[in-house]
Amino acid sequence: MPDTETMYGSLKIKNPLVVASAGTSEHLELIKKAEEMGAAAVVMKTLFEEEYTRKNPTPCYSLIRRKGGPMHSSTFYSFEQASPWDLERYADEVHRTVKEVSIPVIASINCVSDQAWADYASCLEEAGAEALEINRSCPFSKIMMEGKDSWTAAAIETVKLVKDKVSIPVCAKFTPQLTDPLLTAVSLDKAGADGLVMFSRFTGLDIDLEKEAPIMHGGIAGHGGPWAIHYALRWISAAAPQVDLPISGSGGVCCGEDIIKYILSGASSVQICTSIYMEGFKVIKAYLKKLDDFMVGKGYSEIEQFRGAICSKVIPPDQVNRTRARVARIDEDSCTNCGICEKVCLHQSAFTGGENAYIVHQDCVGCGLCAELCPQSAIKMTGI
Ligand SMILES: Cc1cc2nc3c(=O)[nH]c(=O)nc-3n(C[C@H](O)[C@H](O)[C@H](O)COP(=O)(O)O)c2cc1C
Repeated sequence: MPDTETMYGSLKIKNPLVVASAGTSEHLELIKKAEEMGAAAVVMKTLFEEEYTRKNPTPCYSLIRRKGGPMHSSTFYSFEQASPWDLERYADEVHRTVKEVSIPVIASINCVSDQAWADYASCLEEAGAEALEINRSCPFSKIMMEGKDSWTAAAIETVKLVKDKVSIPVCAKFTPQLTDPLLTAVSLDKAGADGLVMFSRFTGLDIDLEKEAPIMHGGIAGHGGPWAIHYALRWISAAAPQVDLPISGSGGVCCGEDIIKYILSGASSVQICTSIYMEGFKVIKAYLKKLDDFMVGKGYSEIEQFRGAICSKVIPPDQVNRTRARVARIDEDSCTNCGICEKVCLHQSAFTGGENAYIVHQDCVGCGLCAELCPQSAIKMTGI
């Protein structure tokens, strides 16, 4: 068995899979399930200072399935804000949980006043939390939406304030709604954060056409889905070589391969949330098995042997090779002459309707769209 030990902030954890903060990590019984399935650590549901956040509307979840021709996608749309408890009850749960499980329990907080950031952090450290996640990133919290012209400046202030109060690791969870996440990562590193969590979910809205009104609870919500991973991979691969602290990847994990992609992009740990809501805690075991299989197959004995392996391979836009190197070729035996390649070819190089479909190679720019969309996989991109 390969050694999957890695880091969350300055905590050593037995493998990279961390259960993200959400309803799925609200209390001991759920955290035990995560531990049983092999999770290395759990971030508890965020405790908010603002009391109104502690009660959710019902319903508060919708699985929006979008069908746009070949572009199917889904988003988990939710308005599930805070732990239902106050500080005292949350601290009790932290205390109860750390006594019952052997994996690190990370508390998550979202406060408004400086006093509360300090008090909540100290109280939860005292209760036994092994680390703190600073969640300024909730897609519908007031601190995300009002009063600060720079999310990064506000997050730096909070990290410094909390670091002053506690000695456990303090990790900052990022909103994805940043102009330059790389700059934010470097700034939070300098400010003394022990780890970065990249990213929380986007703020969003969906509309009921009949009622001509927002769906569900009638307001904005958080949204994310398998599609969200690409944003996180892009920015983690940029940040990982520039910062000295562990990054915990978060967003869009829906299979074991996604855990591996996050590590290749430079993440030290990977958080999962929506896939647990959709398929239960058993996904943890399955994802970890995939990671083990990958490491064995590649001959890796430690995570560090492949963490960040793709970072130096991400070619900057101005250095990408733009020479035309490939053209589309149709395999006549598989082609059904359905006409899709002709419809999508912006360069008028694909022709159907005759006896066989064909490509005019001198007009084909090699973009590959016809091959992507061919329902028979009858088009291959090959050298000129
Ligand atoms: C229903 C729901 C509730 C969430 N609650 C919290 C929360 O309380 N605190 C927090 O930091 N993130 C929260 N998140 C964000 C997740 O922790 C995670 O960062 C995000 O969903 C991206 O991961 P995923 O694509 O695996 O879901 C929540 C996400 C969902 C879907």
